[in-house]
Amino acid sequence: MAMRQFGKSENHEPADANGAGGGAAKPAVLSLTPATVTQAVVDQMATTPDPRMREIMEAAVKHLHQFARDVKLTPAEWLVGIDFLTRVGKMCTPDRQEFILLSDTTGLSALVNLMHDKTAIEVGTDTSLLGPFFRENAPRFKAGDQICKDLSNGEVAMYGKVTDVNGSPIPNAEIGIWQTDTHGLYDIQADPTGAMDSRGIFTTDANGNYLLRTVAPLDYSIPMDGPVGAMVQAQKRHGMRPAHIHLLIGAPDYRELVTALYLSSSEYLASDVVFGSSSEDLVADIVKNDPSCPIKGMDAIRYDFKLSRMSEADRLSGRVGSDPSKIGADS
Ligand SMILES: [Fe+2]
Repeated sequence: MAMRQFGKSENHEPADANGAGGGAAKPAVLSLTPATVTQAVVDQMATTPDPRMREIMEAAVKHLHQFARDVKLTPAEWLVGIDFLTRVGKMCTPDRQEFILLSDTTGLSALVNLMHDKTAIEVGTDTSLLGPFFRENAPRFKAGDQICKDLSNGEVAMYGKVTDVNGSPIPNAEIGIWQTDTHGLYDIQADPTGAMDSRGIFTTDANGNYLLRTVAPLDYSIPMDGPVGAMVQAQKRHGMRPAHIHLLIGAPDYRELVTALYLSSSEYLASDVVFGSSSEDLVADIVKNDPSCPIKGMDAIRYDFKLSRMSEADRLSGRVGSDPSKIGADS
């Protein structure tokens, strides 16, 4: 099998061991030019049994090679890229996913998410990025509970309905919520012990209603102390995300909704460094002393969510994001 790696030997006559006949036959080698190396790689990878993996890798190699040709990549620049990706990998821990941050800040996450949206069989609530701060096994709360420990800057209620696309309530839908705390940090960033805060899971009642207490999220900077932050700084970008509340909403037979609500008061709505705030329908107001809020006298956000029915493809497609501790884990 190893011989296959050294070229297309099928069309060559074997060399005469004694060199008889004048002029020994040349050994089979790859004869490559900038124009032919791409097809040589694609040919060698054609043995990939999984057709989807073969398709993805073939396209990846073709685009990567064309990128190098387009910019006339020099050896020194190539090594800068290798060094950068090495640093991104070394920065990753069970609590820190620098590759997702790289995907987010280069808009790849947004692109995959936007393409995924188009595959829904019904038009539900717009989606947004899961981001690098989602965690599995968040605590479960009862309706009206507070998810944040530090309330020194006040509380905000959130309430509304979860329905299908026709407005029929969905009882027992699960609503996962996570956001920055009173100081603008996610629990992963704020607490090295790993204790969870400012996140939780609620369930809608028989009429599809949900109600919870939280705090107002704050605009925040993505982590700037790693290679992705250095890239963003080198590009003179501000690195900020508009204040938002992440939500993951699911119910049996409905497509899981990964979304976020963005506060209308943020100055970063139009320049989100990770391109997550891509829909004006996801912009929400905090209404002062909201008279419609089930908890009287509270500032509140009201938002109703619509879920599309689930297709067979939805069961296989997965989320655009993951709990960072699950990425690269052995099991
Ligand atoms: Fe976030």
